[in-house]
This record gives sequence, C-alpha cells and structure tokens, in this order.
Amino acid sequence: MRGPYIGENLSSRSPFCFDPWEAYTAGIVKSHSLAITGVKGTGKSMLAKSFATRLCRMGRNVAVPHDPNGEWERVSEYVGGKTISIDLSGSFKINLLEAGERDTTMSGEAWRNHITQDRRGVISQIVQQLRRTHELPPYEHTAIDIALRSLDTQTIVTVVHVFQALRDLTPDGDEVDEDVVVAGRQLAHTLRRLVAGDLAGMFDGISTVMFDPTAPMMVVNTSALKNASPQMQALTRFATSRWVRNATTGSNVRPRVIVHEEAAIALMNDAYGGTGLKDRVTDEKVARHMGVSNWYLLHRLSDLDALGDHGSAMQTQARGLLADCETRVSFSQHPGEIPAMAQVLGWNQTMSAVVKNELKKGESLWQIGADRVALVKNKLSDGEFNVFRTDHGGSGA
Ligand SMILES: Nc1ncnc2c1ncn2[C@@H]1O[C@H](COP(=O)(O)OP(=O)(O)O)[C@@H](O)[C@H]1O
Ligand SMILES: [Mg+2]
Repeated sequence: MRGPYIGENLSSRSPFCFDPWEAYTAGIVKSHSLAITGVKGTGKSMLAKSFATRLCRMGRNVAVPHDPNGEWERVSEYVGGKTISIDLSGSFKINLLEAGERDTTMSGEAWRNHITQDRRGVISQIVQQLRRTHELPPYEHTAIDIALRSLDTQTIVTVVHVFQALRDLTPDGDEVDEDVVVAGRQLAHTLRRLVAGDLAGMFDGISTVMFDPTAPMMVVNTSALKNASPQMQALTRFATSRWVRNATTGSNVRPRVIVHEEAAIALMNDAYGGTGLKDRVTDEKVARHMGVSNWYLLHRLSDLDALGDHGSAMQTQARGLLADCETRVSFSQHPGEIPAMAQVLGWNQTMSAVVKNELKKGESLWQIGADRVALVKNKLSDGEFNVFRTDHGGSGA
C-alpha cells in the first residue's frame, strides 16, 4: 500500500507502508480513523509518533489535544510544530465560549445563531459535567436561552458573563417567570465554581493562548493536570477538544490526524458530559467528510467499564466508535482482555492467539478494512528513537 513507511511486514519481510487517506480513497476502508490498543509499554505511542511525524513530512497536519505525560512536546519540536502547556497558576486561561473562525458562507444572522446554539451546548455540557448528570430540567434550558440571548450583542462572552446573566434574571411578566428565575439562580450556583469556587482561574476570562491551526503539529501538554481534581481535568479536556474542533473548521479544514492519547478517559469524560459522546459519534461522521483521521490509543476495553452497567447505551456507543475504526492496530494484550477485544475488533481465533502470545515490543497486528491483515514491526531511525522514547526520564504510559 502507498503511504509513509511504518516498518517491516513480518510475514513477507517487505516494507510496510500505510496512509489512511489513500486507503479511504481506494475504498479499502470506510473511515480514516485508527484504533490503537495494547498493554502499557508495548509501543502504541511510539507508533503514533513515528507514523504522525512521517505524515507531517508529507504535508499532513497533526493535533494532540491531550498529552497527559508531556511526551509529545519533543515530537512537535522535531517537525517544527508548537506546544501549548496548560498551567494552573491562574494566569493561563481558556475561554470555553470562544467562537471558532467565522464561517464566511453563513450570513451574519446565521453565524450569530450558530454561536448562540454552540454556547447553549457548552453551558449545558459544563453544568452536566459539574453535576454528573445527563440532562437538565426544562426551566433551566429556558434560563440558559434567555441569559445567552441577553449577551447576543457582546463580542466577547465568557462563563463569567453567563454566570452574571443567569444570577440576575428578573421576572418580565412574559417569558421569564418565577420558575425560570429560580432555575437561573440554581444554574448560577453550579457555574459559580468556575468563577469564584474550587475550579476558578482557568475558564473565567478570555483565552491567553491561541491554538494555531496552520502549525504542522499542535500539542496541548496537559501534564500539569496530573494532580488536579477530576472535574478540572474533564473541563480542560473538554476545552482543548473544542479548541481543536473550532480551529479545524472553515478555511482550516484539511487532512489532519488527531491523536487521542488515553482515549478511554476521553470517552468517559465525553459520556459524563451528557451529549459529549453523541457529539463524538457525530464528529466521527463529519470527520469522514473533513478528512480527519482520529487515532484512539487505548490500553484495554475494560477501562470503559467505569461508564456503568455493562452494555449500557454509552458503553455500546463508545465500543461502536472503536468498532467503526476500520484500521485496527493491536499490540500485545493481557489474556483476560482478549474475548471482549476480539468481539469489538473482530479478531478470529488465530488473531486472538497472535495478540495474546506472539507480539514483541513494537510489533502489532494490523487489520485494514474487511480483509487485509498484516503483522508489522514498527521501525525507527536512531534519531527518531531518541526523540520519541519515554523510558529515559520521561514518564510515558
Ligand atoms: N518500535 C519500537 N522499537 C524499539 N523500541 C520501542 C518500539 N516501540 C516501543 N519501544 C520502546 O518501548 C518504550 C515504550 O513504548 P511506548 O510507545 O511509549 O508504549 P505505550 O504502548 O505505553 O505507549 C519506548 O520508550 C521504547 O523504548
Ligand atoms: Mg503511550
């Protein structure tokens, strides 16, 4: 197959090359996305780094919205990309309600409506995330609507403005009755955590850094969040995913790899954000048209069990998302994980046995589309190895 060199095909002893876009255009796969699974330390990140940088050299763009171990900064430097490092000092801010680049095909009114709609989604998702629920009562929807409409003419809107607008709703004898006012206060109490409470400092102002959609590689180093509360982590992940989404629309649409390190955590956060996972499933459909290749790096499927009852709607959705990746790269796996993974990733007995017993570090089973299978050893130059490795003082996972 055409594309950047990945390494050696262990069966034929010939070079193995692959390009998600070439495979898509040739009709070999129906999606650009990759599921990359395997036990910790087997070579998932190594593969993602070598493959991504080689695609970069061929003119593709790469984004890493969450780099929890800070292991991609060097990789980004290596290809002339950029890194944004999240810090919790309070001087680093991300505005969750920032509008993306204006879509010039939309009229002014259509664009304003789009932004309001988008902000409504963001506020509901923040509230759901903070309350760990999956929906909001109807009065709260009305309160959010009215608060956002009152901010319609403002060019910059932050969570602080929405908090104030919700807190200050007053009955107008028309749409805003006592119930809506009460709902507004309740929402304001929830949002207060971002403005003055335990989560203040990061989301309560205009963004202090910009995501550069034209850089060959953009990395968001989220390692500073290691000891932050789960909700701070979830909101930051939400913010950086939105960054990538907003920065890759309009005139910035181009073939792009989005690497999801720790995909299981991201999927779970999305699920707790209520509509997040549905968004992700929609994203994946949109991705096919926009030419985005999502790479989901995942240790094991049972990490998704924290989503709740086995077989719950969200688990099914999360597994479906992986199953929809028609390029599946599987490194060595623990025996106990094999049956569930075999089901989702479509391994037959031979493949299951290979993944269980036969793969060494850097070696993986590739399934591409309906009927292509290869055993591949990911090969690195000395230069690449030194930049990508994590076992010399770095703390890769
Ligand atoms: N293809 C490879 N060739 C040589 N060494 C590798 C290869 N893949 C991984 N390694 C070694 O294993 C270590 C862990 O690999 P990594 O990709 O970070 O694992 P993980 O699967 O946890 O992401 C690397 O730092 C490197 O030293
Ligand atoms: Mg890794």
